[in-house]
Amino acid sequence: MAFTRRNRFKDGFSNGPKRALLLALISVSAVLALTLILKQRIKLGSAPPSSSIKSGEDYILLQLDPSFKPALPKQNDLSLSLEERNRLPPRNTDLFPSLAKDHIKIVLYVHNRPKYLDIVVRTLSKVDGISETLLIVSHDGYFREMDNIIQGIRFCQVKQIFAPYSPHLFPDSFPGMSPGDCRDKDNPVEKNCQGNTDQYGNHRSPKIVSLKHHWWWMMNTVWDGLPETRNFNGHILFIEEDHFILPNAYRNLQLLVELKPRKCPECYAVNLAPSDVKSRGEGWASLIAEKMGNIGYAFNRTVWRKIHMKAKEFCNFDEYNWDITMWSTVYPSFGKPVYSLRGSRASAVHFGKCGLHQGQGAASACIDDGELKFAVEETDRVCNINADWSVHFFSKQSGYKAGFKGWGGWGDERDRRLCLSFAYIYHLHRSNQ
Ligand SMILES: *[C@@H]1O[C@H](CO)[C@@H](O)[C@H](O)[C@H]1NC(C)=O
Repeated sequence: MAFTRRNRFKDGFSNGPKRALLLALISVSAVLALTLILKQRIKLGSAPPSSSIKSGEDYILLQLDPSFKPALPKQNDLSLSLEERNRLPPRNTDLFPSLAKDHIKIVLYVHNRPKYLDIVVRTLSKVDGISETLLIVSHDGYFREMDNIIQGIRFCQVKQIFAPYSPHLFPDSFPGMSPGDCRDKDNPVEKNCQGNTDQYGNHRSPKIVSLKHHWWWMMNTVWDGLPETRNFNGHILFIEEDHFILPNAYRNLQLLVELKPRKCPECYAVNLAPSDVKSRGEGWASLIAEKMGNIGYAFNRTVWRKIHMKAKEFCNFDEYNWDITMWSTVYPSFGKPVYSLRGSRASAVHFGKCGLHQGQGAASACIDDGELKFAVEETDRVCNINADWSVHFFSKQSGYKAGFKGWGGWGDERDRRLCLSFAYIYHLHRSNQ
């Protein structure tokens, strides 16, 4: 007993300083390792462990602006009730109880063109494989006809979300128009109104800014907010209310996603259509890698993290189009050409009203009296991409790139702040609620 006690005491006494040193060493290396891990994460742009809210916050604060205070406008009843609806689970789980193992989720973002949406939904219902996946429909504003069309879908699981801060939901306050707001080229001193002009001297217009706000809110919500998608590690496809989706779109998409790492490691995404929206593709026996297009694009969480890291660039650029903002600021900041992989025949086509655009070839799609004038050929019904094809690269393409100063429409500090706030909402506890 005495021996043991003495020994212990002696041990404790003589090893004390060594232990302290060891502890200190361990702490220092732990801190070093953590710093390294964090740095590595930022470099790779991969997601923080989703299980730990704390490390998620640190991660966002480190990569975005630690001094920025996100702030959201005061919500009205409509905005609150729609946000409540966003929490509802997907519909049609009785018909489609589970999603296929390697499914690609689809996000359809819409505003208010029910005749167009009706066509898109009809084409989606004929897409081979659609029943294997979840369709998320993101609404900019609340429009009953649009809501009804989506509620009528029975061909796959469907989840509806509504942008709760859409300018269309706020008739007399920001992000809509507030009573004291300047319009057009008003002089704030003369008119005693509020607002910042864009680089061309124009004040904000809620209708014009709504699209970029919606796109950015939707991206943040889908990747980092919704329980149905925030832990999803596959690809997500994004389409719009004026994109005709051909029956082979989903099977082509699956094959492109599978081929991308092998055939085009430098590709960030896959596309269902050429970046030139008027083209239906080359029809070659080859895959095509070219700049990112805005019709039917799909990418994964790694790429989202890289985009999200550029929130400040996205939100502070004086350009009201989300896609031109991406081409002019976000993609160029990646430091390498941002290629996207696609087949050489489009399986998604942009359409508009017939006769509105001059000089379009017979390949273009248009609607007249709610009917689509467009021929689906046999080759558009089944996967028409061959896994043995090599990749043809289109480099040095024309179009928007770094250096373009923007078409304006995005000069108001309130829009920039709201936009940047969307990048924080799912990573920080809301400070104002
Ligand atoms: C996501 O896609 C990028 C670009 O194709 C690729 O480098 C990355 O490995 C992918 N991430 C995962 C988790 O598959």
